Amino acid sequence: MADQLTTNVNGHDRAITSAPETPLLYVLRNELRLSGPRYGCGLAQCGACAVLVDGAEVRSCITPIAATAGKKVTTLEGLPLLWAQSKGATADGGTLHPVQQAWIDEQVPQCGYCQSGMMIAAAELLATNPSPSVAQIKDAYTNKPPSPHLCRCGTYAAIIRAVQRASMTMKS
Ligand code: FES
Ligand code: FES
Repeated sequence: MADQLTTNVNGHDRAITSAPETPLLYVLRNELRLSGPRYGCGLAQCGACAVLVDGAEVRSCITPIAATAGKKVTTLEGLPLLWAQSKGATADGGTLHPVQQAWIDEQVPQCGYCQSGMMIAAAELLATNPSPSVAQIKDAYTNKPPSPHLCRCGTYAAIIRAVQRASMTMKS
């Protein structure tokens, strides 16, 4: 029987039954049935699988689930709770994270495959830099290890507009 560990995912402690070396992405999608993080490359080279672990972006395709034991994992589905908690609430109340709302308002996605990872990266950026310049937004998506966030549909200009919109909302 596989070792069991506990990881907090989107505000809930979850007992994980997958083997400890199982990629976090597989646990999230296959065991916990969270479809936000996507499988793109499987090699930490695209960003589609990005999630937050203790507030920092990680590529879940190369992160063993054992590395998240006792930590807080946030997927796209958990962004509303993260935003609510930043305001001192304990439940999301059904309100989207400003990043998610900005993505809707700017109609960012085309096929949508990469966008969960794009929103995760935006949430991390705005948590640490509430007023990023365009250059800083581009830098966050292109120069942060382990690789740039890739969008085959080329939605990059809309992403920059959405991050700026979310920034304004979060400061108001
Ligand atoms: S699927 Fe993880 S970075 Fe591409
Ligand atoms: S919206 Fe299609 S890959 Fe980004």
